[in-house]
Amino acid sequence: MSLRLGDPAPNFRANTTIGEIDFYEYLGNSWGVLFSHPADFTPVCTTELGRTALLKDEFAKRNVKVLAVSVDPIEKHHGWVKDINETQNCEVDFPLVADEHREVAGLYDMIHPNASATATVRSLFVIGPDKTIKLTITYPASTGRNFFEVLRVIDSLQLTANHSVATPANWQEGEDVIVVPAVSTEDAIKKFPKGVKVVKPYLRYTPQPNK
Ligand code: BEZ
Repeated sequence: MSLRLGDPAPNFRANTTIGEIDFYEYLGNSWGVLFSHPADFTPVCTTELGRTALLKDEFAKRNVKVLAVSVDPIEKHHGWVKDINETQNCEVDFPLVADEHREVAGLYDMIHPNASATATVRSLFVIGPDKTIKLTITYPASTGRNFFEVLRVIDSLQLTANHSVATPANWQEGEDVIVVPAVSTEDAIKKFPKGVKVVKPYLRYTPQPNK
């Protein structure tokens, strides 16, 4: 069965481009992004891994560790990483799992047989420090993901975890956020000294607390 929000993220041991890892040990107390792509030496995947590498500082700033998965062998991964670095002007230093036996793909339901019987789809999971699933997205093989959107969701998740606020449609860093329904307006006024704008009793905005 597929993993759903709030479910525990399954742990695994795997061979990767930085050696054998235990997923939970690799994550430590960080947030995690685990993402799969169809195959090595494919064009869209090459740009995705390059883009992820170029965003290294953005992931680090948010205390996020990244791990990529595909069902190709480790020697192939090493060769492909050279190509990614060359063509995308980057340095891929996050690990790529060599999931030849599809163990990780199975645990995370990354093969969707009606799309492809053998290749993993573009699955992406954000995992919280509590090792539960916070976000799942699935893209088809032909569409590269928007990694700025992944960072934007992580920002929103971290704001909710740390400040009890939610983010409205199309929210971008620095814009007003929404007081979560669990916090009363009376408590919100005490909690958010920058002010609370009550549009409706259930729709209350406050400036982004961590700005
Ligand atoms: C790719 O991974 O680059 C890809 C896979 C299937 C269709 C188109 C592109």
